[in-house]
Amino acid sequence: MPRSEQDSAVVDVPQPVTEIAIPQTSPPNTAVRAEVIPELAPMDTPEVRETRRPARESGQRGRVVVITGAAAGIGRATALRFAEEGARVAAWDVSDKTASQLESAIKWAGGDCHFQAVDVANAKSVESAAAAVAAKWGRIDVLINNAGIVRDAQLVKWNGGSPASIMSEETWDAVIGVNLKGVFLVTRAVVPYMIKAGGGVILSAASVVGLLGNFGQTNYVASKAGVIGMTRTWARELGKYKIRVNAVAPGFIATDMVRSMPAKVLEAMVARTPLGRAGTPEDVANTYLWLASDQASFIHGTVISVDGGVVIGT
Ligand SMILES: NC(=O)c1ccc[n+]([C@@H]2O[C@H](COP(=O)([O-])OP(=O)(O)OC[C@H]3O[C@@H](n4cnc5c(N)ncnc54)[C@H](O)[C@@H]3O)[C@@H](O)[C@H]2O)c1
Repeated sequence: MPRSEQDSAVVDVPQPVTEIAIPQTSPPNTAVRAEVIPELAPMDTPEVRETRRPARESGQRGRVVVITGAAAGIGRATALRFAEEGARVAAWDVSDKTASQLESAIKWAGGDCHFQAVDVANAKSVESAAAAVAAKWGRIDVLINNAGIVRDAQLVKWNGGSPASIMSEETWDAVIGVNLKGVFLVTRAVVPYMIKAGGGVILSAASVVGLLGNFGQTNYVASKAGVIGMTRTWARELGKYKIRVNAVAPGFIATDMVRSMPAKVLEAMVARTPLGRAGTPEDVANTYLWLASDQASFIHGTVISVDGGVVIGT
């Protein structure tokens, strides 16, 4: 069909940019925009500012928080930190040696506690523990996949022309079983309760070595890099259910996990840390608490390093 004279004039003669500029006087159509994207509603007027809620505590009061590996180290510190905020803590650990002491410490700190002996690498143990939490408190709001182990060995240690030792399959399986499969099993068991509750927060223990690699830790590094991959995958899958998913990558934190290492190794780890000290379990616990809070409500699918700067390299 032939074009009209007017059409060809528009096409053939380039118009100066100023002639097609949007008139400055038109107010933005906020009502229409807010319908499509609620966050675009006019928020910063004085009236709205007056009605904003003041910052509160972290918002964990009454929330049901499952923490794996809660009997020691970072897990224990995290359980106590959430308890201080009034959370109901489902403390899971393979070892129940300190269970009653942990329960009273959590209650003393201001929370409620339900300890369960759970092996995170065992699907049945995990499924029944999750069902028991839901039966007791009716929901699960926050999951902290903290349980983890190390079994270090070089892939192949070479000596005098032949291998002196290798990383055994058992060593590989043990670490992958707890640190990677365990995170998978626990998250799979808990997610349906979060979907039913209308949302939740999943936080998992990665490690700075999952980002950098580490000598003698093929199994551990693989497990932590896997946790980071699962975190990003679950962020994509679970965001639509209002479940936020993030990982935390601690550096060198002073717990039982590192206490058994030779003094020389510990000194070298501090020397590699730009802040010049080991982290405390509370440093990591505070990060979990903040990530679980509504203050972190737009943080999703990421890895937060808590490492005194190790990840920037030396
Ligand atoms: N300490 C560090 O420097 C450091 C650094 C990076 C990452 N992390 C990670 O942080 C997490 C906590 O580390 P930590 O230093 O507090 O360790 P930790 O050894 O002090 O405590 C780990 C807890 O997990 C429990 N656990 C072990 N296997 C389990 C299983 N199969 N089921 C249930 N519970 C089990 C243990 O009984 C223990 O109570 C781990 O995932 C670890 O890999 C620690």
